[in-house]
Amino acid sequence: MSSKDYFDRVAQDWDDMRENFFSDEVRVTALSTAAVQKGKIAADIGAGTGFISEGLIRAGLQVIAVDQSEAILKEMKKKFADVETIDYRVGQAQNLPISDAMVDYAFANMYLHHVESPPKAIEEMVRILKPEGKLVITDLDEHEFDFLREEHHDRWMGFKRADIVEWFQSAGLREISIDSIGTCCETQSSCGGEFASIGIFIASGTNAD
Ligand SMILES: C[S@@+](CC[C@H](N)C(=O)[O-])C[C@H]1O[C@@H](n2cnc3c(N)ncnc32)[C@H](O)[C@@H]1O
Repeated sequence: MSSKDYFDRVAQDWDDMRENFFSDEVRVTALSTAAVQKGKIAADIGAGTGFISEGLIRAGLQVIAVDQSEAILKEMKKKFADVETIDYRVGQAQNLPISDAMVDYAFANMYLHHVESPPKAIEEMVRILKPEGKLVITDLDEHEFDFLREEHHDRWMGFKRADIVEWFQSAGLREISIDSIGTCCETQSSCGGEFASIGIFIASGTNAD
């Protein structure tokens, strides 16, 4: 099954699944780290059903929500049916459907460990940032819970923070910071009962161009 097929299949259940994985603290910290300002444009990459977008809308930003899965974006549209400030776009990590230097912020929550090439996905998110635009990524620290590949279609078993910093630098970001978000992503394996509790990092950087 492809990653797209997996997310198409879980689209209707994603909100319930996500609530069990991690808390709203992830969104609060992501938005405060970026110091988002009302009226600006933000991209939510790998938006899913709009966990990050929800906070952005509340803060008065315009949102471009990108995901590979039409089915999951359809669920997001149902949820935000009365919101006119979201532009939904189906697209892939390596070729985001957003012009160069278009957004003030790019967010990606729990997206990077699903993409084929994390460094290329980061470069592509930097491409869409305006000069001085900010990239904020929240994702899993490196872990050893192999069942997540099988059961949740994860491609990468989290990341070393040093790698994230290196990829941010190579993509041309400055003022890079990376830290623990202070909460974990938790889930139980459906076979065998193995329980995963994985640290979540928050990485941010500013576009130098
Ligand atoms: C774990 S979910 C996270 C969704 C959302 N950001 C959240 O926090 O609830 C990962 C999302 O990234 C999308 N995704 C995974 N790989 C992708 C790719 N290569 N290109 C575009 N979207 C992708 C999936 O379809 C899915 O909706």
